[in-house]
Amino acid sequence: MIVVTGATGQLGRLVTQSLLAKVPASRIVAAVRRPERAADLAALGVQVRQADYNKPATLGAAFKGAEKVLLISSSAVGQRAEQHFNVIEAAKRAQVALVAYTSLLHADTSSLGLAAEHQATEAVLKSSGVPYALLRNSWYTENYLASIPAALEHGAYIGSAGQGRIASAPRADYAAAAAQVLTLDDQAGKLYERERPAAPP
Ligand SMILES: NC(=O)c1ccc[n+]([C@@H]2O[C@H](COP(=O)([O-])OP(=O)(O)OC[C@H]3O[C@@H](n4cnc5c(N)ncnc54)[C@H](OP(=O)(O)O)[C@@H]3O)[C@@H](O)[C@H]2O)c1
Repeated sequence: MIVVTGATGQLGRLVTQSLLAKVPASRIVAAVRRPERAADLAALGVQVRQADYNKPATLGAAFKGAEKVLLISSSAVGQRAEQHFNVIEAAKRAQVALVAYTSLLHADTSSLGLAAEHQATEAVLKSSGVPYALLRNSWYTENYLASIPAALEHGAYIGSAGQGRIASAPRADYAAAAAQVLTLDDQAGKLYERERPAAPP
């Protein structure tokens, strides 16, 4: 079984779709906080199980028979380190062969405020003994969409990046990559991250 946590989220739904193109629906578990929001996934033949990052008992049940787990990082900023710890502990108890985790680009060196919880999660994975792969996703291209109307209106895209360069990808691309990792062999220990660009001239 391949278990996708956060499967009712935007990325989780796309990962589930990508997986459906690769493996039978009966091998996919949508592990979700609110099963009532996953009727559409159930209709596709995917198993829907409750998995609340704050409720370890649900995680144990959700991971029963799991070979691989995709841990989609929680949206509850500030609570994520503890939530992810719960997921990793449950995956360890279930003796899964792989946890793939959606981390942050350059999580180990990033000075972003958001990085700390990803660093904590990566450290727990490392010390847990669970085989894991890191999907250090960059910014979603969709994050820029809300700024487009104002940019069109004023003829300028205004930001504070200076000479910084954008390396984004749409959620669907990160989802396809996650599905690939979940269906390939020998993924334990892999780190997926964009190459660091050369310093600007
Ligand atoms: N790379 C980027 O640009 C970027 C931007 C924003 C966020 N992120 C990170 O990437 C993750 C996935 O992105 P997304 O666009 O799919 O976000 P999203 O649509 O907000 O999905 C977040 C998922 O986390 C689930 N969740 C929150 N609390 C939970 C809990 N206690 N137990 C179980 N599940 C819980 C939500 O469940 P419900 O469906 O029940 O709400 C939802 O499925 C985000 O959660 C965040 O960590 C990345």
